[in-house]
Amino acid sequence: MIALGIDTSCDDTSVAVLEDSNIRANLISSHLVHSEYGGVVPEFASRAHAMLLYPMTRLALESAKVSLGDLNLIAVTSGPGLLGSLLCGLAYAKGLSLASGIHLRTVDHLEGHIYSVLLSYPDLEPPFIVLLVSGGHTELIHVRDSFDYEQIGATLDDACGEAIDKVGKLMGLGYPAGPAVERIALESKNPVKLPVPNPCGMDFSYSGLKTAARNYLEAHPETSHADLSLGLMDAAFDHLVARVERAVEALAVPNIGLAGGVAINKRLRSKLEESGKRNGFKVFAPLASLCTDNAAMIAAAGIARYITYGPSNLDIPAYDRSSIWEGGKV
Ligand code: KG4
Ligand code: ZN
Repeated sequence: MIALGIDTSCDDTSVAVLEDSNIRANLISSHLVHSEYGGVVPEFASRAHAMLLYPMTRLALESAKVSLGDLNLIAVTSGPGLLGSLLCGLAYAKGLSLASGIHLRTVDHLEGHIYSVLLSYPDLEPPFIVLLVSGGHTELIHVRDSFDYEQIGATLDDACGEAIDKVGKLMGLGYPAGPAVERIALESKNPVKLPVPNPCGMDFSYSGLKTAARNYLEAHPETSHADLSLGLMDAAFDHLVARVERAVEALAVPNIGLAGGVAINKRLRSKLEESGKRNGFKVFAPLASLCTDNAAMIAAAGIARYITYGPSNLDIPAYDRSSIWEGGKV
């Protein structure tokens, strides 16, 4: 089956072509304009999506060496995300489906991230746990079975990537700051010690760490940004690893999938892998291009949903809150 995937959930525009689990094209366009404002400006994001969807679809089909007539499915993110952005992709996909007669399948963005792991490791069978860490999400998801998910942990305040981005912004590292924080931390000789968050249960919290980093920077304006970056990553990631260890122990599920933009970070990957060796779990980390928001994972989830549930109706709306935890409507 050949599917066109479309994701416009936030600021990146992505269009992909997937043939079963073989990625034929996975184009991602990130827009620098948000960097000037230190965060995503929804109106700019929507305008970029509206402008780019048609040329990127043409380019994706061209690089995949397929034509519109070869497609069996159009898979598109319908939520959660920025409503204006989602509507651009959803309206475009509906129009394309209506005009071409190709079936439409809407996909939940979080389920898409889960499928980024399955796309990379097709032999991975449920049950497994996914640690989803991005600019908008920090969640622990128990994948009990196909389309059967339980959210076992979530952030009580900021997302992990959001906290790193905000501290990075204070250091003048632009937006999003995650990649720069990782890069400059390599120069650190004496990392700043910051408190590792520790709310009870399996939830996460990042606002205290963000405030601690800001207070430190204000009290020590001469501090090396490399040392602060490494200290920030260590506290942020030790918190993630501690929660994964707790989840593995509580559920006795020894397979951990990693997803979301922060999952690209090599220090996070190695900390998790080291913990896995000590605690008897295995880490499944996709390629970087499948960790950030991308349409290949949306196409993968779309194919799986389509095979089991058939096409979506054309009147399906965009939404800003995921309901896959409540039995997987969509
Ligand atoms: O999944 P994603 O592309 O978009 C959403 O937020 O949904 O994730 C973006 C986040 C940003 O917070 C960005 O700073 C972070 O991922 N990120 C990183 C790295 N690359 C991207 N954080 C730490 N280290 C990285 N190498
Ligand atoms: Zn995402």
